[in-house]
Amino acid sequence: MMANHRRVLVTGGAGFIGSHLVDTLLDRGFRVTVLDNLNTGVRANINAGADFIEGDVRNTDDIARAFDPSPDIVCHLAGQASIRLAWANPEADLNVNVVGTLNILSAAKKHRTPRLLYASSMMIYGDPTILPTPETAPALPVAHYGVTKFAAERYVALAAEDPEHPLAVTSFRMFNVFGPRQALDNPYQGVLAIFLGHALRGEKITIHSDGEQSRDFVFVDDICRAWADAIDTPVTFGRVFNLGSGRATTVNQLCDAVLRQFGQDRSTFEVTTAPAQLGDIRRSEAAIDAVAEALAWRPKVDLERGMAATVAWARASESQY
Ligand SMILES: NC(=O)c1ccc[n+]([C@@H]2O[C@H](COP(=O)([O-])OP(=O)(O)OC[C@H]3O[C@@H](n4cnc5c(N)ncnc54)[C@H](O)[C@@H]3O)[C@@H](O)[C@H]2O)c1
Repeated sequence: MMANHRRVLVTGGAGFIGSHLVDTLLDRGFRVTVLDNLNTGVRANINAGADFIEGDVRNTDDIARAFDPSPDIVCHLAGQASIRLAWANPEADLNVNVVGTLNILSAAKKHRTPRLLYASSMMIYGDPTILPTPETAPALPVAHYGVTKFAAERYVALAAEDPEHPLAVTSFRMFNVFGPRQALDNPYQGVLAIFLGHALRGEKITIHSDGEQSRDFVFVDDICRAWADAIDTPVTFGRVFNLGSGRATTVNQLCDAVLRQFGQDRSTFEVTTAPAQLGDIRRSEAAIDAVAEALAWRPKVDLERGMAATVAWARASESQY
């Protein structure tokens, strides 16, 4: 570990992706403060080497506590991450994802924070017509969550235009991230976690639509490497990058791959179908040339290996599913 006295504020650092990023940053010698309201995040995820402020990005007093001492870098991952819950309560999604981001940006401005990275999403593309989808494809979200992630991403970009506050920003449009610490018992989570949870509990797997819709699954360690590498890489300043595996996997293929992890197949394990869900997108596949060039980044962990690690984690940690 290289000594590094800069402080990073990781909002959402008790959550799935944020907690892994905290681990990566501590490994690289940064000091880390976590701001999280423990809505979906859990205290046990937070590395003991990090300072923890229990607080809400909608509350400016909580944010003020997290900015004392002032961070050198903000990694803003706190968010309402469920597409389905955003349909059920768009106002809550708007408040956390957009107003929360504006609050963080205004604190960054007040404290003259020089660097900020933001957790955007592939959901901003809606149902893309270009596959694999490059960052230059139009943003036309088809679900509330995609609207709020895009609005926040644009607010982040606009904050970087403020002549009175030099702020270097980078947004990562992450595709379907998976790995240990992902909630496997939360029906509002992504499809891979839901399938793994069902298989672990021995419950039937339900495929919505015909199962030929595709997703791009990327392992959480690969994601954190890109975030951490970007912090000091000026070519990433002022830009947005896709972070995906660059490979499309259909939900049918995913189901079969999950069952393989348990030595099962559709003749031995019950798989049913149901209608498509609101705001479901048909196809998703990241073009990753931009991040490959800027950060010499390539995903290292494929779907099978990443799932094996996730299953091993779930089995080792009681009450995860
Ligand atoms: N998981 C993915 O595939 C994926 C893909 C693209 C983008 N993202 C984004 O990445 C970020 C992290 O997602 P995740 O999958 O780790 O989800 P997560 O739910 O595990 O993490 C979100 C964290 O934010 C915290 N949080 C929620 N509301 C808050 C609030 N008002 N104030 C403070 N903290 C709050 C939660 O407690 C949780 O710890 C989110 O912004 C999400 O939108 C996730």
